[in-house]
Amino acid sequence: MSGLILGIETSCDDTSVALVDRSGHVAAIKTVSQYEVHEAFGGVYPELASRAHLEAILPTIQSVMDEASATPKDLTAIGVTRGPGLIGSLLVGLSTSEALSLGWGVPAYGVNHLRGHIRSVELEDGQTEFPAVIMLVSGGHTLIADLKDPWSYRLLGTTRDDSVGESYDKVARMLGLGMPGGPAIDRAATLGRPVLRLPRPMKNEGYEFSFSGLKSSVARHIENHPEVSLEDMSASFVAACLDVLVAKADRALAECKPRSLVIVGGVSASPQLRDAMAQVAGRHGVNLCLPPVKWATDNAAMIAMATWDYIERGVQPALFPKPNLSLET
Ligand code: KG4
Ligand code: ZN
Repeated sequence: MSGLILGIETSCDDTSVALVDRSGHVAAIKTVSQYEVHEAFGGVYPELASRAHLEAILPTIQSVMDEASATPKDLTAIGVTRGPGLIGSLLVGLSTSEALSLGWGVPAYGVNHLRGHIRSVELEDGQTEFPAVIMLVSGGHTLIADLKDPWSYRLLGTTRDDSVGESYDKVARMLGLGMPGGPAIDRAATLGRPVLRLPRPMKNEGYEFSFSGLKSSVARHIENHPEVSLEDMSASFVAACLDVLVAKADRALAECKPRSLVIVGGVSASPQLRDAMAQVAGRHGVNLCLPPVKWATDNAAMIAMATWDYIERGVQPALFPKPNLSLET
């Protein structure tokens, strides 16, 4: 075995390590969740996240190398998330990678987490045909961009307040559905009907998003209409979110005329979102590219996959944390 990338992802609350080859085959992966560390805080507690990464990182790397019977000689490179993310969490992955790189004599690349999500589509058998309109819908980010190729992009819009995933999580909490909110809302929504009239913020305006008003509107409905079931609340919320996302995708496809529509990030695991985007892509005659569901949420396999882009382009970003990175290198 050779030609593997060791991917390391510690940008938020999962310590994930993977070995991936050029074709996107995942030779081994392990993701250690910090769910129990943060549960009591109702969100990620940055200081505890860094400490938990520190405890998990070396055993996780060891376990993945063992599982694939890999040695440092099998590695073409190490690819590690350098941003966006929590600075303390990023530093754990970055400094570990720097030490391994020096000790093993393997080059290390500081990878953009958002580029990892974009390349999650290529894991296993997927392909992206450029030019592509990319919609990234996760817990930390909501953005839409036009990519001529993996490196030339025009950012069309981002969110002014909450991300889509964040609003799924907050609404799930209001409805007592627990975490992670996305899958719980999806399940409840399939059993309900979209009976509530909820707002569709910024649906008819350009490419910017805003989801905090929608979340507040759900909160008001929960208070004023206790008779509405949580299934109907969930279905109404999902319908409102999808209406907005579909309208933006529709507008971008009409304007940019790409070959593909790429939907990535944790919320791209949503079956409702997948169906809705399949219809938009079908109407415009473009390919719909989605990650396999298990690679939609944060994982190191996508970081490893994105590392190949850096190697092939000959750019080697420093192992320096960039908490606010957007789509640039
Ligand atoms: O990409 P991700 O793992 O982390 C970030 O980079 O932010 O996304 C996490 C988000 C969470 O908000 C979670 O609720 C949402 O993705 N999510 C989903 C589903 N699975 C995860 N949202 C809707 N439907 C799902 N099935
Ligand atoms: Zn992510």
